[in-house]
Amino acid sequence: MKYKNSTAQTLVSMLASDRIFLQACVELAAKGQMTCAPNPPVGCIIWRDGEVLGRGFHARAGSGHAEVNALSDAAAEVRGATVFVSLEPCSFVGRTPACAQSLIDAGVARVVVAAVDPNPQVAGQGIRMLRDAGIAVDVVELASAKECIQGFAKRITQQRPWVRIKTAASLDGSVALANGASQWITGSAARADVQYWRARSDAIITGVGSVIADDPRLTLRDANYAHATAPLRVVLDSHGRIPSGAQILQGPAATLLVHQRGRGSSELAAGDHVQQVHLADGPRDLDGLLVELGQRGCNEVLIEAGPAVVGSFLQSGLWDEWIAYVAPKVLGADSQSMADLVVSHLPDAHQARLVQSVQIGDDLRLTLRP
Ligand SMILES: NC(=O)c1ccc[n+]([C@@H]2O[C@H](COP(=O)([O-])OP(=O)(O)OC[C@H]3O[C@@H](n4cnc5c(N)ncnc54)[C@H](OP(=O)(O)O)[C@@H]3O)[C@@H](O)[C@H]2O)c1
Repeated sequence: MKYKNSTAQTLVSMLASDRIFLQACVELAAKGQMTCAPNPPVGCIIWRDGEVLGRGFHARAGSGHAEVNALSDAAAEVRGATVFVSLEPCSFVGRTPACAQSLIDAGVARVVVAAVDPNPQVAGQGIRMLRDAGIAVDVVELASAKECIQGFAKRITQQRPWVRIKTAASLDGSVALANGASQWITGSAARADVQYWRARSDAIITGVGSVIADDPRLTLRDANYAHATAPLRVVLDSHGRIPSGAQILQGPAATLLVHQRGRGSSELAAGDHVQQVHLADGPRDLDGLLVELGQRGCNEVLIEAGPAVVGSFLQSGLWDEWIAYVAPKVLGADSQSMADLVVSHLPDAHQARLVQSVQIGDDLRLTLRP
């Protein structure tokens, strides 16, 4: 009986320390979040006899995976060590060798995984390879590990990126005055916070209405994210109305103009950083747009647009998360609602679920899910 109790206690404390190491792996993974697309962010820690031997994360597609980077970070040999990893080690040889094989070759004794790889090319095969080689594998699922790869998981299983809407509105839900004035509704702290969401996005989608009204650049300007890959700027512009001098057409960040087939701006000097794509049903076909962006390797996209595009996304139901900044000010009746849509019956209102609420400067940031 005494023996059983101490076994149970050992198991409980092992599980607790597994979770602590795995959470540290998720934090390591986040270091690659802004650069690793189309791959998932992954973090790895190698541990033996109370000592961390190596740490690694995946920084860029084509460069070393987290496990391989942790192995090369280890100064000593890792035979018999425990490997903690935020995502199941891959089982196939791609641009880099299979991580499961590298761990087998290194002679590690145990691997603890926080999330099974949703990639159908892996989906448990990495774990099987390790077990077949006599390595003990434990899957200790962490919600934070799943959250960290949500964009990759959606693209790899549904061929569409994770869609995050961003709005910045007054207390009464307005994003501009009737005369178009909209700069600035939220304060500088909230605007600085938006830079984070831009930096972790692979594309920022806007409408030609916002480009004409505000002439935004939609670039990363925060030095904290200087390492991030500049997101692709996507302008939904059915008929090629974008002004040729628009700032969003200027480099070095890339821009994609999405037109209706047979329309578009032939006079635009499409440089290396400006591309035009013609969809059969034009940018009104939001699902076709998302498939196009998924094919371009986008895991996460951010909608930073005016009421027409935001309204279209809300109405289509093709969104996964909504970051809504709310400023403590009222713009009144002569202003534009954040979403161009009409609801005739209250039960038909577009309902979102509040998952987080944080004060940013004088504003509120609400995180909502469908
Ligand atoms: N406070 C904020 O956060 C914020 C942010 C952005 C904009 N704004 C304000 O919003 C106002 C502009 O509003 P807006 O509604 O014209 O801008 P928008 O939503 O950015 O652009 C609308 C235009 O996009 C095109 N479009 C292409 N595909 C679309 C689709 N699937 N759904 C909807 N539209 C699509 C349409 O033009 P075509 O038919 O020609 O393609 C449409 O007229 C400005 O006053 C701006 O200052 C505020």
